[in-house]
Amino acid sequence: MILYQNVKNMRSNDIIKCNALINANFSENRFEDYIKTITYKKNNAIVGFVGIYDNLLNQLCTDKEYRNKGIATRILNVAKQTMKTPIFLFIDKNKQNTQYLLKFYFSNGFYIEYENDVEYKMRYDTRFEFKQIVCRIFCFLYYYCLNILDQFKQIIWDDNNANI
Ligand SMILES: CC(C)(COP(=O)(O)OP(=O)(O)OC[C@H]1O[C@@H](n2cnc3c(N)ncnc32)[C@H](O)[C@@H]1OP(=O)(O)O)[C@@H](O)C(=O)NCCC(=O)NCCS
Repeated sequence: MILYQNVKNMRSNDIIKCNALINANFSENRFEDYIKTITYKKNNAIVGFVGIYDNLLNQLCTDKEYRNKGIATRILNVAKQTMKTPIFLFIDKNKQNTQYLLKFYFSNGFYIEYENDVEYKMRYDTRFEFKQIVCRIFCFLYYYCLNILDQFKQIIWDDNNANI
């Protein structure tokens, strides 16, 4: 079960479980900064988590026992469906799994917007997809109009020939 909710509406038991998951995955716990969370529950235990404030995702993590099963991908998909784009997140450059994280976020549609000595700022937006849709509609209308124009030309040409 996947839940997108305000922190103030979360059950205290779930908050404890989120904190335990964050503490198991990160040296720092920023739970108090979050306005919303997306959590993934399995057998009443929280095995996936991301914290949200503004349009920033933070401390995405899954329980070690449940990795590579698509849980983080599903959490990201819920974020993409529910949050206003662009969505941002940061990857520390000095983490053991930095390269893995880069690849993971790339395959989930994020790209590097900016980097400095310590971190990458990753960005996801739907602008590109939106552009593609507009482009496709434009192409469709263009070819549709060309087709109609061709038919008109054919009718006029047929009429002219009929009059000869
Ligand atoms: C990064 C992290 C959140 C990924 O969580 P996850 O639940 O294992 O992620 P997913 O299962 O969605 O995706 C991981 C891989 O499994 C693959 N996968 C997705 N669905 C799958 C499925 N149903 N079965 C098997 N593999 C699957 C994905 O394609 C992905 O492969 P890729 O990285 O080569 O693209 C997890 O490794 C983690 O908690 N790391 C520690 C905390 C951390 O560093 N967080 C990042 C903060 S920026």
